[in-house]
Amino acid sequence: MKKALLYLSFFAAAACSSPSEDPKSTGTEYMPDMYRGPAYETYSMNPLYKDSMTSRQPVAGTVARANAIYSDVDRLMSNDYMIATYPPTPDGYEAAGTSLKNPIALTDVSMAEGKRLFENYCMICHGTAGMGDGPVVQRNGPKPPAYSSEQLKNLPEGKMFHSIHYGKNMMGSHASQLTATQRWMIIHYVQTLQKGAAAAAATDSTAASKM
Ligand code: HEC
Repeated sequence: MKKALLYLSFFAAAACSSPSEDPKSTGTEYMPDMYRGPAYETYSMNPLYKDSMTSRQPVAGTVARANAIYSDVDRLMSNDYMIATYPPTPDGYEAAGTSLKNPIALTDVSMAEGKRLFENYCMICHGTAGMGDGPVVQRNGPKPPAYSSEQLKNLPEGKMFHSIHYGKNMMGSHASQLTATQRWMIIHYVQTLQKGAAAAAATDSTAASKM
C-alpha cells in the first residue's frame, strides 16, 4: 500500500512538472498519431482499397431510409409523431379515434396484403375471422372481443391504429413488427371483419376484388 502511494505521488509530480521553461512551448507530444490522425479526405484517392475510393459503399444488405419498403407514411407516422400527436393516454386514444385517418388507399393489393399480415401477426389471438378465438386463446391466452361484437364493431380506425401502435391491456404493441403502412393495410382488413364472419368469408377467395 505504502509503495503504491509512493509510485502514485511520483507520477503525479511528473505529470505536473512543466516539460519546458518556455511558456509558449507545447511540450513533448506522446503518440502524435492521436493528435494528427493519418486521415484521408472523404472523396480522395485511397491506396488502401482495391477500388481506390476512400468513401466506402454501404455493406451488402443495407436498407436505405428511402427504400421502397419504407413509404412517406412510415416516415410521417414515426413513434415521435405518435407520442407528440396521439400519446399513449386515454386522451391520446380518444384524439386518435376522432382525427387519425387511414392514409393508405383501399385497393385489392392493400386489402390482400392486410389479410396476409393479419394472418401472420394477429390471427393467433384474434382468430381467422376476428372472432377472438385464435389458437393462443384456445390455450388459455388473452381472449380479445370479436371485431364484430358490440364493443368493437364501430371502433374507429384511428383507435385501432393507436392500439396496434402502443398495445392495449393484454395485447402488446406491434409497432416494431409492422411499419405504419402495414398496420393501416391490416386495418382495412380488420374493418371487413367488423362486419362479421360472413363478410370475412367473402374476402377469402376473392381477396376483396369487389372493393
Ligand atoms: C397476444 C394476443 C394478441 C395479438 C397477437 C393481437 N391482439 Fe389485438 N387484442 C388482443 C386482446 C386481448 C385485445 C383486447 C384488449 C382490451 O381491450 O383489453 C385486443 C384488442 C384489439 C383491438 C381493439 C382495440 C381497442 O382499441 O379496443 C384491435 C383493433 C386489435 N386488437 C387488433 C389487432 C391486430 C391488428 C393485431 C395484429 C397486428 C393484433 N390485434 C394482435 C390480443 C391480441
